[in-house]
Amino acid sequence: MKLERLELAFDGPVARIWLNRVEVRNAFDGLMVTELRKSLFDLRSVDGVRVIVLGGRGPTFCAGADLDWMKATASFTREENLREAQAMADLFFTVYESPKPIVARVHGAALGGGAGLVAACDIPVAALGTQFGFPEVRLGLLPALISPYVVRKIGEAAARELFLTGERIEAVRAMEIGLVRAAVPLDDLDSFVEGRVHELLQAGPRAVADAKALIREVAFRRIEDVQEYTVERIADVRTSPEGQEGMRAFLEKRKPGWAR
Ligand code: COA
Repeated sequence: MKLERLELAFDGPVARIWLNRVEVRNAFDGLMVTELRKSLFDLRSVDGVRVIVLGGRGPTFCAGADLDWMKATASFTREENLREAQAMADLFFTVYESPKPIVARVHGAALGGGAGLVAACDIPVAALGTQFGFPEVRLGLLPALISPYVVRKIGEAAARELFLTGERIEAVRAMEIGLVRAAVPLDDLDSFVEGRVHELLQAGPRAVADAKALIREVAFRRIEDVQEYTVERIADVRTSPEGQEGMRAFLEKRKPGWAR
């Protein structure tokens, strides 16, 4: 697929996706939604790729939904509106459940859907000074599609404050409430991201995908209700080729085959 809204570059085991619609600060339209979703979907089956880094070209990570495009939806039928919204919902879910971990490299601004994208990623890292916020209510809209991801990350209390006011917060506050994992000077952002990537590359690729699925399964459930699942999972993986190699490597005082 020829990409018009994204850049996709391969760097050994790392795929780097850049939102690339700088003239509107990487705002999402239908084409960007399609391209990002398809790229992430295709990367699932590229065996050599183990980590994805998602960033934005130009001065900002992502300004959220393209408001020109959103405004134009007034002339769509209800079915067309549902279809467009579903495509965007599918995108956030594709990011969230990607079996390859996604590190978000966030700078400038991540607003509305851009902040939702951050919330759906595994390890979002922001430059100091980056603005985050959910301005939807100030536009008479709702942070509907992104709410499941954001509320999971920041909790109901912070969501009530930020969704209801639509105010903007800076990276350090975003880190305090759990929207991003770190806030570092812009000059250090790339090296910090590479540090996260390096750590992820020490982990078994199948184990990483399984760990993501594990978190999804156990989060917000009663311990008694997930115990059978957790028992089955560890019983499965300790006898798996990757589990056996990992334990053998430790006992033989060497790195496992997958470690970089
Ligand atoms: N949808 C459509 N166009 C957008 C946009 C969006 N979400 N965000 C920015 N743009 C456009 C601007 O209209 C402007 O277009 P112009 O050059 O034709 O005037 C261009 O992108 C640059 O925006 P500008 O505000 O001048 O850039 P900036 O670097 O000073 O600020 C932002 C960047 C992201 C902080 C700012 O553009 C902004 O607040 N955008 C709105 C974000 C928003 O409310 N998103 C929620 C969607 S639900």
